Amino acid sequence: MSGMLTRTLSQLHGRCGAYLTTNFGGTGGVCVVTLHPLPNGSIATDVVSGIERAMSMDRISRRVGAIAPSATLAVTTKAKAMKAAGENVIGFGAGEPDFATPDYVVEAAVEACRDPRNHKYSAVGGLPELKNAIVAKSMRDSGLEVDPANLIVTNGGKHAVYNCLQALLNPGDEVLLPSPYWTTYPEPVALAGATSVVLPTDAASGFRVTVDQLEAARTPHTKALIFVSPSNPTGAVYPRDEIEAIGRWAVEHGVWVVTDEIYEHLVYGDSVHHSMPVLVPELADRCVVLNGVAKTYAMTGWRVGWMIGPNDVVKAASNLQSHSTSNVNNIAQVAAAAALDGPLDAVAQMRSAFDRRRRIMHRMLNEISGVVCPETQGAFYAFPSFEAVVGREIAGRSVSSTVELATVILDEAKVAIVPGEAFGAPGYARLSFALGDDDLVDGVGRMADLLGRS
Ligand SMILES: Cc1ncc(COP(=O)(O)O)c(C=O)c1O
Repeated sequence: MSGMLTRTLSQLHGRCGAYLTTNFGGTGGVCVVTLHPLPNGSIATDVVSGIERAMSMDRISRRVGAIAPSATLAVTTKAKAMKAAGENVIGFGAGEPDFATPDYVVEAAVEACRDPRNHKYSAVGGLPELKNAIVAKSMRDSGLEVDPANLIVTNGGKHAVYNCLQALLNPGDEVLLPSPYWTTYPEPVALAGATSVVLPTDAASGFRVTVDQLEAARTPHTKALIFVSPSNPTGAVYPRDEIEAIGRWAVEHGVWVVTDEIYEHLVYGDSVHHSMPVLVPELADRCVVLNGVAKTYAMTGWRVGWMIGPNDVVKAASNLQSHSTSNVNNIAQVAAAAALDGPLDAVAQMRSAFDRRRRIMHRMLNEISGVVCPETQGAFYAFPSFEAVVGREIAGRSVSSTVELATVILDEAKVAIVPGEAFGAPGYARLSFALGDDDLVDGVGRMADLLGRS
């Protein structure tokens, strides 16, 4: 085994800077590793951890061993570690609002703690008061009529993605996944034994997939499309006519749509959020809506999300959940119900702060030499192209990918950004603007100092 490892390491070393998909030592495990040359000639740790991952395949199941760690969390963790070590790091990695959960939500949770009913197991699919709040909110915010029997409450939106894909997918199924995609989507698709069919989009197309692209990728194995608007990471918001066209195409071909609406309230300028099953009601029997309180109410840590779908899918997901997590924490559910039943004032305030920051970000990023940044329409991310920066030498270091660029920017400017490779979009990077205005200006300014101004 160690001979194999040495051989593999030297082979890898010769390919530094590349992305590689390989099959290690006949384990049958496929491992995607990122190769970074270090100035001292050694191999960066994520290569070694990639190999360790592959080598541990006989200890860890292949299914789980093949899961890549969340790149967005990895950047945030590294930036936090540098901060803890006393470095003045500015992090653009976080996918969470930099605001506090509204007081009335916190108060509801405090009260719920004192209620002994909340100290016990509750229904797997959610507390009735939260389910009722989700029903009312769905009608209020998007005009979607929901029966409480057609929804379950999950441990955050991420868990809704997982439950839904486990309930829908069989090995051999294909899932259409427009890229740049949220880094989490491909993993639960693969865990279900299905394949993600990536459909690239770019800034020229507004990062929106077209019906022609979907149709060209459709095969007899196509089971579902993952659709998200506003999008993480691009901030793209699909206009009404495009959502209708995609929904009608899905109905025509019996393709399921999993539509992630977690950023529904964070749209700017003329952009408007529309829910696909509201625009195309015929889709309802093959549509699952995913949502949660994390982004709208600054409640990322509370872990409450939900999925709305046809009764058989929701029942299947509920059965799965009954053997994995059971009910979501009752206190968090009561807090989420209070949030949904309350006003939308807090999100209106956040939206106006994000709106201001997205303009600053747009202006400042476009002033950096080689950076092209479209104006964000929704969510709280800028997604600029660094294609003209890759290939340059920066601070004496040659940069051949956005992964390497992010490393150089973190090392030299102490600014954390998430490279586009994490979203299936090399050449781009994601910068969250969920941070204070001063830090934002300082952070983008440091990048401009490092990369040069145009
Ligand atoms: C597109 C998208 N969907 C779902 C989620 C899940 O959010 P949570 O699990 O925090 O509710 C996120 C979080 O970043 C997201 O960006």
